[in-house]
Parts: sequence; C-alpha cells; structure tokens
Amino acid sequence: MTNKKPMSRRQFIRLSSYLATGLILPTCTLAADKPIYKTIPKSGEQLPVIGMGTSRTFEARNDPELLAQLQQVMQTFFEMGGGMIDSSPMYGSAQQVIGTLLPNIQGNKQLFAATKVWIDGQQAGIEQMETSRQQWGIKQFDLMQIHNLVDWQTHLETLNQMKADGKIRYTGITTSHGRSHNALMTILKKHDFDFLQLTYNINERDVESNLLPLAQERGIAVIINRPYQRGSLFRHVKGKALPEWANDFDCTSWGQYFLKYAVSHPAVTCAIPATTKTKHMMDNMKAGKGVLPNQKQRAKMVSYFKAL
Ligand SMILES: NC(=O)c1ccc[n+]([C@@H]2O[C@H](COP(=O)([O-])OP(=O)(O)OC[C@H]3O[C@@H](n4cnc5c(N)ncnc54)[C@H](OP(=O)(O)O)[C@@H]3O)[C@@H](O)[C@H]2O)c1
Repeated sequence: MTNKKPMSRRQFIRLSSYLATGLILPTCTLAADKPIYKTIPKSGEQLPVIGMGTSRTFEARNDPELLAQLQQVMQTFFEMGGGMIDSSPMYGSAQQVIGTLLPNIQGNKQLFAATKVWIDGQQAGIEQMETSRQQWGIKQFDLMQIHNLVDWQTHLETLNQMKADGKIRYTGITTSHGRSHNALMTILKKHDFDFLQLTYNINERDVESNLLPLAQERGIAVIINRPYQRGSLFRHVKGKALPEWANDFDCTSWGQYFLKYAVSHPAVTCAIPATTKTKHMMDNMKAGKGVLPNQKQRAKMVSYFKAL
C-alpha cells in the first residue's frame, strides 16, 4: 500500500530546522512517528485519532486461523499507539473474540473500551451491557453507546445512572449510513451525551453541514464509523495514483488519505476503521501520525477524489 516518496518541501524545511538547532535526529524520530491525539471535550482526556472497529472483521470465534491473524492485528494496533476499540452485541462473536485476544497482548496497551447497548427495555439493556462486560473480560467500559438510537430514552436514563455510579466513564449514541440524522439533531439539542458516533468519509460528507457543527457547539466528542465506506472507497481509487502533494501531510497510501480526511475535521475526535489484516492495520495507524491536512488541503483532497 505504501509508496516511497521523495521528501516534500515542508518535510525538508522541518528537517533543516532540526539540524540548524543542533538536534541531529534520525529522520524516523521526526513528528511522523508520534501518534496524534485529540481531546474529549467534556473531560479534557486525550485519545489517539485512530481507533479500531470490529463489525464483521472480528466475528471469528469458530475460525482458529482468523483468530491468530486477529491477534496480530490487535497487537499491532496497541504497539502503534492505538486506544479505542469499538464493538457491539450486534456484531456476532466479536466481543467474545476481543475478550479472547486482549489478555495475550504483549507490552503496554492503552485500551479505551467502547461498546453499545442494542435491545429494547431497561432490564434487558442492563443485562446485555453486563454480558458484554463479561465477554470483554474487563472491569468496566470507558464508553457505552446507544446503538442506532434503539430505545434511546430508556437507555439514556440507565447510562446516566451508570455514569453517576462510576460504572462507565462516558455516554454515547450512534448512527450510520446517513440514517436518523434529523432525529439525532433533535435528541442532541435536548439531551446531554459525551460522545456521538456517525458515518463520515470523503464520499459521505452530509454531516459537515449539520451534526458535526452541532457536536462542536455542544462539546460532544465524535467517533467516525465506516471511514472507508466499508471498503468501497478503495474500489473507487483502484489503479489511481495518489497525488504527489499528499506527501505534504505525511500521507503515503489511499488508506491514510481517507483516514486523514476524516480525522482532520475539527469536530472529529477519532475514527474506527476495521480490518482483518496486519498490513492494513499498520497502514491505518500511520494515518494517525505526522501532520493532518489543513482546511485548504482538505478541500483539494475532495476535488481530487471527485475527479477520479
Ligand atoms: N451504527 C453503528 O454504531 C455502526 C455502524 C457501522 C459501523 N460501526 C463501527 O465502525 C467500524 C468501521 O466501519 P466498517 O467496519 O463498517 O467499515 P470500514 O472501516 O469503513 O471498512 C472496513 C473495510 O475496509 C478494509 N480495510 C481496512 N483497512 C484497510 C486498508 N488500510 N487498506 C485497504 N482496505 C482496508 C477492510 O478489509 P480488510 O479486512 O481486508 O482489511 C474492510 O473490508 C465498525 O467495525 C464498527 O465498529 C458502527
């Protein structure tokens, strides 16, 4: 996926300034290796901008070969500075798979555990969240989200109580595929949530004019699902060359192009691409390093993508 590109003018200037101050560093320790963090508005806590999704990719309980592969994917995620893992009881065996793989991780892991409640009824919701916790094998979730607005009034009350009791740290609500945006706008104007999860990518940008500005105004952290439009963005650019100027924001693959576009929006806190492959995980994590495109570069990225 990654192409070796010549050093851009900006990178050259940055390297020259290091050398001028007498700081002789190997190029591999420049900013390009440091994970980028964004701040959760309600708490000030920092989160790496690239997390990991588990829908379909982690539904692998009965496949030992895939399980071994996913262990490597998860190891790479943490080694390269990953934080948030997102799941849901909707995703088949994904939560059990997470619980199987997590204890085998070598070295540090800065896990930020996020799942969802996806069922009708208060008691059923409480039981489902407890089942998820046991499947992950963790003391508590950092973030509990209401999946696709399902019975949201009931669960919001439970989540607020759980947060007050210290059983979760953050509350959230999700949607995807551009669904329920009007309903979500109404909910978010009236009720307090710490996180909002929605679909946003270079080909699905509707939320730039409604939900993203609202989240910014209300101090709600934003998680991006389907940042690759479930992989279809790659089909759109198949056989097409990455523009030379992508190097100016440390981008060396189409995967990084798409993720850097999503997480460089000022309202966005992190994106959660899903993968079954270690080489794709490495690619995804590289998107959370170096610099992000500025507003002018973001506009150029959209025009270039649309013209392909
Ligand atoms: N309503 C909701 O709450 C909701 C809805 C949808 C999604 N989500 C969450 O968001 C996560 C992400 O969305 P998603 O899984 O639907 O789609 P996605 O992350 O947009 O795309 C996943 C696809 O991209 C491929 N891929 C990943 N990295 C790649 C790379 N660097 N190069 C080339 N291909 C790559 C994967 O294939 P390989 O396995 O071959 O890498 C996979 O087929 C989900 O897993 C889930 O946690 C939440």
